[in-house]
Formats: sequence, structure tokens, C-alpha cells
Amino acid sequence: MASFLFTVIVVLCSVSWFIVVNTEGIRRSSNDNETKQLRFDKKKGEFRILQVADMHYADGKKTPCEDVLPNQLAHCTDLNTSAFINQDAAASMNAAFAPAISSKIPWAAVLGNHDQESSLSRESVMSHIVGMRHTLSQVNPSGVDVIDGFGNYNLEVHGVEGSSFMNKSILNLYFLDSGDYSTVPSIPGYGWIKPSQQYWFQQTSKKLQKMSKAPGLAYFHIPLPEYAYFDSSNFTGVRQEGISSASVNSGFFTTLVEAGDVKAVFTGHDHLNDFCGKLTGIHLCYAGGFGYHAYGKAGWSRRARMVVVSLEKDSHDAWGAVKSIKTWKRLDDENLTAVDGQVLWSQHSSGNRRKNPIVHGLND
Ligand SMILES: *[C@@H]1O[C@H](CO)[C@@H](O)[C@H](O)[C@H]1NC(C)=O
Ligand SMILES: *[C@@H]1O[C@H](CO)[C@@H](O)[C@H](O)[C@H]1NC(C)=O
Ligand SMILES: *[C@@H]1O[C@H](CO)[C@@H](O)[C@H](O)[C@H]1NC(C)=O
Ligand SMILES: *[C@@H]1O[C@H](CO)[C@@H](O)[C@H](O)[C@H]1NC(C)=O
Ligand SMILES: *[C@@H]1O[C@H](CO)[C@@H](O)[C@H](O)[C@H]1NC(C)=O
Repeated sequence: MASFLFTVIVVLCSVSWFIVVNTEGIRRSSNDNETKQLRFDKKKGEFRILQVADMHYADGKKTPCEDVLPNQLAHCTDLNTSAFINQDAAASMNAAFAPAISSKIPWAAVLGNHDQESSLSRESVMSHIVGMRHTLSQVNPSGVDVIDGFGNYNLEVHGVEGSSFMNKSILNLYFLDSGDYSTVPSIPGYGWIKPSQQYWFQQTSKKLQKMSKAPGLAYFHIPLPEYAYFDSSNFTGVRQEGISSASVNSGFFTTLVEAGDVKAVFTGHDHLNDFCGKLTGIHLCYAGGFGYHAYGKAGWSRRARMVVVSLEKDSHDAWGAVKSIKTWKRLDDENLTAVDGQVLWSQHSSGNRRKNPIVHGLND
């Protein structure tokens, strides 16, 4: 029997972070199956995703913060990163659910480019993550013999229990390992999403689209070269540093456009960029930097990105398929301010961007 779960946390660039968290227990709970099926919530017909990028968590309270204002430095450690994640997870949920669920939110992770710089290889980092509580992460999809990287997998989010969509995925989440650094001597710089991963994505998307026309969201760490196609006239948010994608274009954006189901891509990596812009029907979004022991910008709040996917009601007042996908960012300031609300996709007017459509819903 699946429980009604509606939030998943995505953590990118997390190596040291999980080492801290695993002191809370890396055992799988015996009733782990209960958290396996993600599902839209019955009350509000919503599924919420909190994207946390670039935690850079190290040694808890001994690790100082970077790039905070001078008067913040004395009282700032990795514990502020923990405090922020606890608060933000709570803020993103119905207040009644928050105390009970906050430690049991299902979460998924993809690797960043620093995540093997400790004593563990990328494969063992991912294997370790997969063994942690409440995670839905996978090392790689089963039944696929050859695939580059670790942490390529997809998750289905089923419709509301009792509705006609209860056994169907109506939202598809794709997670990919965008690698770390190029291993090709003649190509400098960061890694990229390889043909084997793109082939897996294509096959998976095709299979899922045969079952239902569910929209998809893709999460990985390093931005695609197409993130550089925007300026402030056509994105929401800020760009305060360069786009650190691979120095070559492996064509994954084109693969996404061809597949047709993914409506938005979410990355981390560039901590000072937090924008979302739309290109050829797909939004390309950053989360903005989250962790305090990572470079940032003094006076510019650490932040995380929320995504809320909402269902439509059918003619019998029952929850149906996905109606809209919205996003905003939550800042780690005293009010956990929500900024830059925007509609990423809507069923009936795809791409229609309305002014300030979600402000009333930000504090749910
Ligand atoms: C969990 O699911 C697996 C496979 O569906 C099954 O073999 C196992 O018995 C289940 N475990 C529990 C505790 O229900
Ligand atoms: C970090 O947390 C401490 C203790 O709660 C608080 O006093 C301090 O203001 C926080 N620092 C930042 C930069 O949020
Ligand atoms: C969904 O699956 C369950 C269990 O197999 C079944 O009892 C139920 O009738 C199915 N519902 C729909 C709408 O397909
Ligand atoms: C954004 O606007 C700039 C001109 O200000 C243009 O060069 C660029 O192609 C636009 N990008 C997109 C994705 O529309
Ligand atoms: C937080 O909210 C209070 C009350 O509305 C306001 O006075 C204060 O300036 C806000 N702080 C920030 C950092 O926005």
C-alpha cells in the first residue's frame, strides 16, 4: 500500500552532506516499500519538489561559512545549512504535515562535480546515497547494460489515490549524472551528458509517453550550453557569473526537444545564477546556491527552488491529469521570502506566462 507522498528533495553536489546525514541512520526502514511510490496529494491535488543545489556540506559546526557579510561570519557554520533545509522543507508543506513529515520526506539526488573528491569514487558515493533512508535515488536503471555515470534514473509520480490516474504516471522525473570533468585530453573543462545516457533517456521517455502524455522534469548538476542563450530580457532571476557548462555541446538539449515531454530542466553548479528562461518550449532553470560552506555572494541570500505541480479536476470533480507547473525560489532570510514566481507550463495554454500568478500560494 503506497502512502500519499508529495514532496521530493533533490540535492546536487552533496558528497559531504550525506556523510553528516548518515549519522541519522543509513538503514533502510523495514516498511520502505511504503515510500516507494510518489503520488499527488489528495487534498490539494499537488506534488511539490524542493531543489537544493550545491550544499557543499562539510564538518558541521566546525566548518565556517563562505561569502557572508562580516557581521554574519562569527555565528555561521554548516549548521545554518541544516537549519535552512529543515525550515525550507517545513515551509514548503502544509503546516499540519510539517512536524510529522519533515524528517521523512522522500528525496532523490544526482551527483555534482565535486562529489568524488573525498575518499569515495562517484560510484560508491551514489551507492551510499541509495542506501540511505527515504531516498528514491538509484545508482543506475535496472536492465540497462551500458550507461555512463552514476545516478541516471527516473521516477514516476502517480495520480491521486482513488482517481482514474491512480495507477498511472502523470508526472515523470528524470535524473542524470552530468559528470565532473572531461576525460578527453583535447577537450578542456567540465563533463557532459553522454550518448549512452541520452539513449536511455530517449527510450525511457518513449516508453512512458506510450502509457500517458505526462509532462516531465529533468534534474542534473552541470548546466547545458544552451543556458548561455539568455539575457535579462528573457529570463526570470539573475545571472551574476558565467555559465559553466562543458566546453562542447553533446546535444542533450536537442534530444530533450525531440522527446517532447520534458517541460523544464533544473541544474545547480553556478551558485550565483538562479534564473529560469524558456528556449524552444523548455525552461532552463538554476536553483541558486544553497550551502553556506560554498562560494556565494555576501548580502545575496542562499536559496532553494520550489516546484509545484497542480492537477486539474474532471467533470465529476475528481482529480485528473496535470494542469500546471509553477516555480519560485525560497530565500534563507528571516522571512524565508519567496521570489520570482513563474508558470513553467500549463496544460491549456502551454508557455503562457502570467504576471505574479502564485503569490497567494507561496506560504502553504
Ligand atoms: C517490498 O517489495 C518487494 C518487491 O516488490 C517485496 O519482495 C518485499 O517483500 C517488500 N517488502 C516489504 C517489507 O513489504
Ligand atoms: C546562522 O545560525 C545562527 C544560529 O541560529 C544565527 O545566529 C545566524 O544569524 C545564522 N547566520 C546566517 C548567515 O544566516
Ligand atoms: C489500480 O490498481 C489497483 C491495484 O491493482 C486496483 O485495485 C484499482 O482498481 C486500479 N485502479 C485504476 C483506476 O486503474
Ligand atoms: C534573449 O534576448 C537576446 C537579446 O536581448 C537574444 O539575443 C537571445 O537570443 C534571446 N534568447 C532567447 C532564448 O530567446
Ligand atoms: C521580514 O518581514 C518583516 C515584517 O513584514 C519586515 O519588516 C522585514 O523587513 C522583513 N525582512 C526581510 C529580510 O525581508
